[in-house]
Amino acid sequence: MKDDTGWQDLIAVELLEPGWVTEASLGARRLAVYDTPTGVHVSLALCNHGGANLCDGYFDGHVIECPLHQGAFDVRDGRPVSAPATRPMKVFDTRVENGMIQIRV
Ligand code: FES
Repeated sequence: MKDDTGWQDLIAVELLEPGWVTEASLGARRLAVYDTPTGVHVSLALCNHGGANLCDGYFDGHVIECPLHQGAFDVRDGRPVSAPATRPMKVFDTRVENGMIQIRV
C-alpha cells in the first residue's frame, strides 16, 4: 500500500534475515533489504556494474560485496567503496512503520 507521501510497504520486519540481506520485490523492481547495526536500508538488488544479484553477495555491517566481481557498496548511501564498482547504487529512503519496512518511491 502506498500513501499520499510516497511511502510504500515493502516487507515485514519479521521476515528479514537478522544482520543479513533479504531480497524483496516491489512490482517489477528487485530490491535488497539490509538489516544493519544502525537500522534497515534498501537498494536495488542488481549491481550497477554487471547486473549480479547483490542479495547473493557477502554482507558485513554496512557494506555489501557483489558476488560477481567483489565490488562493494556502503548500503547507507549507496557509495562505492571497492572497485570495480565506481558508480553509486540506487538506495531508497527507508523507515519502519507498525512492523513493516517502507520505502519512498
Ligand atoms: S557485477 Fe557487481 S561488481 Fe561486477
